[in-house]
Amino acid sequence: MNYTVMIPAAGSGQRMGAGVNKLFLKLGEKPIFIHTLQAFERDPLCSGIILAVKKEEEEEIQGYLEQFNILKVRSMVEGGSERQYSVDACLEAHTEGGVVLVHDAARPFIKRSVIHDLAKEAKQHGAAIVGVKAKDTMKLAPTGTVEKTMNRDHLWIVQTPQAFRYEVLKEASERAKKDDFLGTDESMLVERIGHPVRIVEGTYDNVKMTTQEDLAIGEILLKRVLQEDEE
Ligand code: CTP
Ligand code: MG
Repeated sequence: MNYTVMIPAAGSGQRMGAGVNKLFLKLGEKPIFIHTLQAFERDPLCSGIILAVKKEEEEEIQGYLEQFNILKVRSMVEGGSERQYSVDACLEAHTEGGVVLVHDAARPFIKRSVIHDLAKEAKQHGAAIVGVKAKDTMKLAPTGTVEKTMNRDHLWIVQTPQAFRYEVLKEASERAKKDDFLGTDESMLVERIGHPVRIVEGTYDNVKMTTQEDLAIGEILLKRVLQEDEE
């Protein structure tokens, strides 16, 4: 079951504090975003990649795509000032329907089995996202005083990829545009048009490279991945 993946890579990585787009920082020998793209480049079910980038970074990114032989990028579009606008730009470049995934360029440790579970669930139900169960006890405390302890079994920490049948995401995106609604993930847009969103259990190592600590964790995870590849 094939899918297209849309990868927003047009952020600036403020929280990483590196002074450059964090996606160019190296994990092992490759920039973060190249690890992410390779997960899809190597997945036979991925039929194409649509990448949102900043105009001024396009040339540098193109250079890396050539250097690492990434061949599946079929459109590079200009990202927007918010992540959602970058995903909108990707959506505009895709009209073929089918299952579309949205995945942060900053999550290089996505596993193929999770991608496949997700794509299958989205094909069947229209919308599915990857999440992991909260490990810690979770409290609701909107004013800083505990109101109640949440049932941990009901709470999910969600990640990307998030997967949709094209027409579901398209409708959600158009409605958000019309209402001037800005969400923190695609699922929020789909939830607000009343379409159910399934959760697929993912892995804790699908970390988003956000701050310096994540880079240190990323180096450890990468060593593990390379070891597994050798075995
Ligand atoms: N992103 C994007 N367009 C934006 C903002 C973010 O395409 N206007 C992308 C980032 O490049 C990243 C993903 O969305 O791959 C997730 O965003 P995040 O981790 O928040 O990255 P940044 O926005 O770059 O980092 P920060 O919020 O710390 O500035
Ligand atoms: Mg951001």
